[in-house]
Amino acid sequence: MCGIVAYLGNKAAEPIVINGLKRLEYRGYDSTGIAYFDDQSMHTHKTKGKVSDLEEVLAQHPKHHSTVAMGHTRWATHGVPNNVNAHPQTSNSGNLVIVHNGIIENYASLKKELQHRGFQFQSDTDTEVLVNLIEDVQQQKGIKLGKAVQVALSQVIGAYAIVVFDRRKPNELVAARLGSPLAIGLGEEEFFVASDATPFLEYTKNVIYLEEEHLAIIRRGKKIKVHKIKDDSQITPYIEELQMSLENIQKGGYDHFMLKEIFEQPKAIQDTLRGRLLSNEGVITLSSLREHDNRFLGAKRIIIVACGTSWHAGLVAEYLFEEFIRIPVEVEYASEFRYRDPILYPDDVVIAISQSGETADTIAAINIAKEKGAFVYGICNVVGSTISRITDTGCYTHAGPEIGVASTKAFTTQITVIALIGLYLGKAKGTLSRSAYQAYVTELENIPQKVERILTSQAFIETVAQSFEAAQNCIYLGRGYNFPVALEGALKLKEISYIHAEGYPAAEMKHGPIALIDKEMPVVVIATKKGHYEKVVSNIQEIKSREGRIIAIVSEGDTQVKELADYCLEIPESSEAFAPLLTTIPLQLLSYYIAVQRGCNVDQPRNLAKSVTVE
Ligand code: F6R
Repeated sequence: MCGIVAYLGNKAAEPIVINGLKRLEYRGYDSTGIAYFDDQSMHTHKTKGKVSDLEEVLAQHPKHHSTVAMGHTRWATHGVPNNVNAHPQTSNSGNLVIVHNGIIENYASLKKELQHRGFQFQSDTDTEVLVNLIEDVQQQKGIKLGKAVQVALSQVIGAYAIVVFDRRKPNELVAARLGSPLAIGLGEEEFFVASDATPFLEYTKNVIYLEEEHLAIIRRGKKIKVHKIKDDSQITPYIEELQMSLENIQKGGYDHFMLKEIFEQPKAIQDTLRGRLLSNEGVITLSSLREHDNRFLGAKRIIIVACGTSWHAGLVAEYLFEEFIRIPVEVEYASEFRYRDPILYPDDVVIAISQSGETADTIAAINIAKEKGAFVYGICNVVGSTISRITDTGCYTHAGPEIGVASTKAFTTQITVIALIGLYLGKAKGTLSRSAYQAYVTELENIPQKVERILTSQAFIETVAQSFEAAQNCIYLGRGYNFPVALEGALKLKEISYIHAEGYPAAEMKHGPIALIDKEMPVVVIATKKGHYEKVVSNIQEIKSREGRIIAIVSEGDTQVKELADYCLEIPESSEAFAPLLTTIPLQLLSYYIAVQRGCNVDQPRNLAKSVTVE
């Protein structure tokens, strides 16, 4: 939610900030803006729309060579997307500018107080309140910018990642975070501040991920200073080396990031297995589990917290862990878990699943679990993300950066980690027989090739998509391990093509949804050989009798469903437990092509943002 980029150095700042914002557009893209300091004054340009719209605005203004600037791409929370509500926001005196990601929850009461003191507001944003609060502190106490930001933030309830600039101190930026990420790139006599490291990849590999409730004072030609916001104590920040390359974040010849990421799945799964699945020796090594064997082997219950696609991966884990480890599993929406008073026992293990590692609801759920004394394990994709830091231990999926807003390779690599955990613990507990364990290990190793094979049906799936481009609704059905896949297939379709879609367990259809079926209704049914095949075939018969149009995901060589379905998308045979790693792939491609044929912006669907860092 919202992307921030700021630069202070010796290069022209505007192009660096603009390019950086383009890389962060996955975080929000409803309005955008930039502020730079040139000729002793601040210049701010903002517009509704995307960074490309901002470029058009900037082209109408004289060229400049400012070496300090900050920019923002917004996903609206307070106030509709327009020029006034876009960031940067400026204080009443015009001295301070700010870019902000997050929500100031007590902004209304702060605003009232500031209005009493004579402050006036142009926008509907909480951010304008924050920048004026900082100004108010500065004016009242006559203190430096860094200190004023610290004092102001101690009055704030909510979440923020901010960068603040004072035009009277043009060689300084102040950055701070609580609940929203900020990365600081350290170059040769130059500094970058951004919501993630992608805006400065080509300039430096040295990065500081600002910790929760820390504030950084960045001065030209000086060493960066980092303080705790609470007690002002100074700390020595940890400088990490970035492992990401520019190639990872480019489209590489594909029309969309989503398509590139769908096609990256064989490699992403392979990378997630690398060094963890040693099939020759029949061994799975997961140091995070080995080091906490007692917690996992003694667990009476596993509770999974996640949102969206990651929650669907959690549902797959419910089936897999219960089968492999014989431990009861509960899968919770993080947003619901956090507002109940969940009952947790000392021998429960909580697993948080998140691609970004920054989802606000999942972070809050983890914090509640920790407060109640639970042991929390994280499955994250983004290295160094908040969730990877606040969990007791965990395991990264090695999917690489996922930029398309609709999650694809994150999902299959999450399931890969879940499979590894299930196999490791199933073997350790003795709940999986030796032969079953060995067969699964061999099968898991072969999954990347099978995914590769499914991807060769791309052109056929594109043709099938043409028949459904005009659909208004769609139903997805699956049973057992394929029920979460049905939910995920429906989510993919609705989020990128805006077709209303619902996923159901196939047998639930007759309890209501069957009323929707007529000859206009496409029904996607996952009907692979292993996994209640005959029962699903009966469900297909029921749809057929009501003239529904059927697209079936079937095992290679299937004949029975082929006679009933309008279209069949084949996948290689697999065990039921690992089927989601395969059945998901044609559904991703189907949604992708339907959305493209409807002219939708696949990588940046309306109203969405990749990283949901607000409630
Ligand atoms: C859907 C999608 C979202 C995310 C959800 C959780 O394609 O991407 O539903 O899965 O916002 O995000 P993470 O996994 O980053 O916690």
